[in-house]
Amino acid sequence: MFTGKVPHIIYGGDYNPEQWPEETWAEDVRLMREAGVNLVSLGIFSWAKLEPRPGEYDFGWLDRILGLLHREGVMVNLATATASPPPWLAKLHPESLPVTRDGTTLYPGSRQHYCPSSAAYKECAAALVRRIAERYKDHPALAMWHVNNEYGCHVPECYCDTSAAAFREWLRERYGTLEALNEAWGTAFWSQHYSEWDEILPPHTTPTFANPTQQLDFRRFSSDALLDLFEMEKRILREVTPGVPVTTNFMGFFKPVDYWKWAAREDLVSQDSYPDPADPESHIGAAMVCDLMRSLGEGPWVLMEQTASRVNWRRRNVLKKPGQMRLWSYQAVARGAEGVMFFQWRASKAGAEKFHGAMVPHVKSEISRSWREVKQLGNELKKLDAMQGAGGEAEVAILLDWENWWALELDSKPSADVRMLEGIYSFYKLLFEANIPVDFAHPEANLSKYRVVISPHLYLVTDSSAANLNRFVRDGGKLVMSFFSGIVDENEHIRLGGYPAPFREMLGLVIEDFTAIPEGETERIETQDGESYACDSWLDLIHLEGAEVLASHTDGFYAGTPAVTRHAFGEGAAYYLGTRPEEEYVKSLLQRACREAGVEPPLEAPSGVEVVRRKSDTGSFLFLLNHNEEPAEVQVSGRDLLTDARRVDGVRIEPFGIVILEEQR
Ligand code: GAL
Repeated sequence: MFTGKVPHIIYGGDYNPEQWPEETWAEDVRLMREAGVNLVSLGIFSWAKLEPRPGEYDFGWLDRILGLLHREGVMVNLATATASPPPWLAKLHPESLPVTRDGTTLYPGSRQHYCPSSAAYKECAAALVRRIAERYKDHPALAMWHVNNEYGCHVPECYCDTSAAAFREWLRERYGTLEALNEAWGTAFWSQHYSEWDEILPPHTTPTFANPTQQLDFRRFSSDALLDLFEMEKRILREVTPGVPVTTNFMGFFKPVDYWKWAAREDLVSQDSYPDPADPESHIGAAMVCDLMRSLGEGPWVLMEQTASRVNWRRRNVLKKPGQMRLWSYQAVARGAEGVMFFQWRASKAGAEKFHGAMVPHVKSEISRSWREVKQLGNELKKLDAMQGAGGEAEVAILLDWENWWALELDSKPSADVRMLEGIYSFYKLLFEANIPVDFAHPEANLSKYRVVISPHLYLVTDSSAANLNRFVRDGGKLVMSFFSGIVDENEHIRLGGYPAPFREMLGLVIEDFTAIPEGETERIETQDGESYACDSWLDLIHLEGAEVLASHTDGFYAGTPAVTRHAFGEGAAYYLGTRPEEEYVKSLLQRACREAGVEPPLEAPSGVEVVRRKSDTGSFLFLLNHNEEPAEVQVSGRDLLTDARRVDGVRIEPFGIVILEEQR
């Protein structure tokens, strides 16, 4: 459990009382009690209210609301309020404003208008955080710290002169000498050799493709610059309130920020989740994000934001259907969440988010379906205390490395259409549908607890990640690797010696060349049993060096060459997909790898029924989540946790319904 101060599953949301007259607060806390709210994130966007003029603070209103919340038994996830600087900062320090790649300054008037390397922003933010921490360090309502908000969400990188100087500093740290930098960046190409440090710039808009390593390093730097801001705040909070947990809210598979590095520095991982109800597969993507969060934090995490009903920032904002908010909340709990929170508590009446759903909507609560659902969920979650601390049971891991993601999606590649998330999702979706639990892992992580590891497009590999994967297979693991893997090192230089050099021996093959398959076109592959499948996107020209062929190409000048292979290596085996076959084929390949590894789902369930187990030393809980609009039946027994622990044999799950069974141990 993250905080002994909230001894239950956390329930609540972003609370912005500064948008309301104080008379409304009394109603707020009354409704919070009704809904079973036990924690609110307070003051995330309140810097301008807390410090209306430089160095002039007004904590009166925050004192009063904290007192009120405490009296009513609601704990506080107190924000450091640094996410949106007040207008005076830009007036005093125009150089603190961020600049985009093409040189556009981003002005105040929305939020997150600060350059991550700005000294003025850092100084003012640090002073504010210290004030807040000192003032509330002993407040009994303080349960945890909410640092900033969604770092990088709108401004993941900045190209101003301050950022350029900070980038050069970062490069000096990384390379030590200009010679080393020139070598790493391959500046012999296109006359890019640098003779002085101050010649180096961020990768601004250039006539054509910018230096790939420069682009990659700028991504690394930009992620680190944001991380430094988080660290700056955390240092102050640690010093003043050593025992209070610190988090900052993540945004799922957010490309600009390397969450592995961040999660290691947080006390608990928290996540904001906004699946689109208009997308029939959005619950699969949402599950994938939950699994990433559990993996990042190596355990329980908090769903920090979701909407009770609808967002306001898509072109068309579709309401969650009756039951869907509850269902998706339990999906998060099933996959390790120990907190279910919303953006936001009370719907705003002004500002850019007034049409965003909230726990308390604009309409009278008596007629609001979403309010009824919010109340139901909050009161139900109280029955799940026994769940706390229970973990997942994944034996399959999908590899994810942000540096690889950045490098893979740089320009000037054999195909611009090989995308990291598509590669990951193509495997994840099939495992999700088979109810096989999945973790995410960094390619340098200890993989020994997994039986199957899936490695989609692992284009950039360090020596140690290459060694790690070789070791995993040699020690008995089953690896499924997809095309365009093992191609470059951390400097984005080709690993010579025949593609994919670091995996050639393990895969038992060498790739002579690759070709993109033109858009809209497909090729065909045939399995050893004579079954034929389509494939598209990419095609490797494979020569065998010991691998066995599972499927070959049937057409074109590559007819008869291997498309999919398997190679026994050490105690394990490595599968390789040299193209993108249609789903049915990938499904059978995954089934084969899982069968070989002895990996099975918790139970057989009808299509559309998600089954997830959480387990601890004291209990085992089976979540059955029906994503169908029809009821579903599952043959399983246990004690039904939500209906006062009655024992059931065989369950019927309502449309968008859920059942949680405590299993016999
Ligand atoms: C999040 C953000 C919240 C709110 C919400 C709306 O990205 O953290 O402050 O803007 O989106 O969906």
